[in-house]
Amino acid sequence: MGFPVVRNRRLRTSSALRNLVRETMLSAHDFIYPIFVTEGTGVKEEIRSMPGVYHWSLDLLEDEIKEIAGLGIQAVLLFGVPDHKDEVGSEAYGNHSIVQRATRKIKEWQPDLLVVADTCLCQFTSHGHCGVVRRDELTGRADVDNDASLELLVKTAVSQAEAGADIIAPSNMMDGFVQAIRGGLDDAGFEHVPVMSYSVKYASAFYGPFRDAAHSTPQFGDRRTYQMDPANLREALREAESDVLEGADMLMVKPALAYLDVIRLLKEQFDLPLVAYNVSAEYSMVKAAALQGWLDERAIVLETLLGMKRAGADIIITYFAKDAARWLQDR
Ligand code: PBG
Repeated sequence: MGFPVVRNRRLRTSSALRNLVRETMLSAHDFIYPIFVTEGTGVKEEIRSMPGVYHWSLDLLEDEIKEIAGLGIQAVLLFGVPDHKDEVGSEAYGNHSIVQRATRKIKEWQPDLLVVADTCLCQFTSHGHCGVVRRDELTGRADVDNDASLELLVKTAVSQAEAGADIIAPSNMMDGFVQAIRGGLDDAGFEHVPVMSYSVKYASAFYGPFRDAAHSTPQFGDRRTYQMDPANLREALREAESDVLEGADMLMVKPALAYLDVIRLLKEQFDLPLVAYNVSAEYSMVKAAALQGWLDERAIVLETLLGMKRAGADIIITYFAKDAARWLQDR
């Protein structure tokens, strides 16, 4: 008689029993919702490759912020889409720049909503790279100058903190960016403001729709001299370790879906809170298929986000945050 000795189905026999033994839970508190803020007035413009995601001018943003907070989402991540760009990304660190102004407004409208500021220059530079570009006189090759870029990133982070940002999230992948920004924040009296480092950020095709949205596609070359090679896992440990030593308060893996092994590895190796960035193309792929009626969007999204948490993410940055928060309320 070959009857099973172990019967795993016993714990699946009712919804209550399944709820009792569930290992991973999603909540609106897990989410950070990205928002694109832009100059001008009367702008609520849908991003072509990201249905349901918009560019917002500040005069229309208040209701949206209230709605986000009303859904139980506790944090937004701000991306600026400026109307003026130059070689050194001056609009990133100006006091009246779009992200800084949006931050002040949001903290006025909804003081308890956490504002996370993405600290990078690529939306603000005319060449679309994440730092200052230098041309090597001998080879003629142009690349981002690491240390010169750090100074501008520190200025950007400090001006974001001055505007009231609760968390600084540097995404530029320069060496030493966490240390430089930590030092700059401390010197300016912002020693209490945490740094959420985009520690392990791969040079990924999954940022395509974001670059449409943020107008930040590099005008020449690509980001492979500063973002990581998708083939590498052990290197992720080195990137995360240097950020820990430099004083990061949270670590991030980006993108998420094709990199769940990296999330798992960091979870096992480090004890800082771990963030997964469910990036733009991960959103667009699901949206496109859902709009065709090819899949059950709600089920797919919740399963995907759950998978990221199960892999080890404590926090998920996702364009689905509002939808997911609503679906979780309905359940
Ligand atoms: C800026 C930045 C990017 C993203 C977040 N911050 C783009 C990039 O590095 O090219 C991508 C986010 C997304 O795809 O959703 N450096």
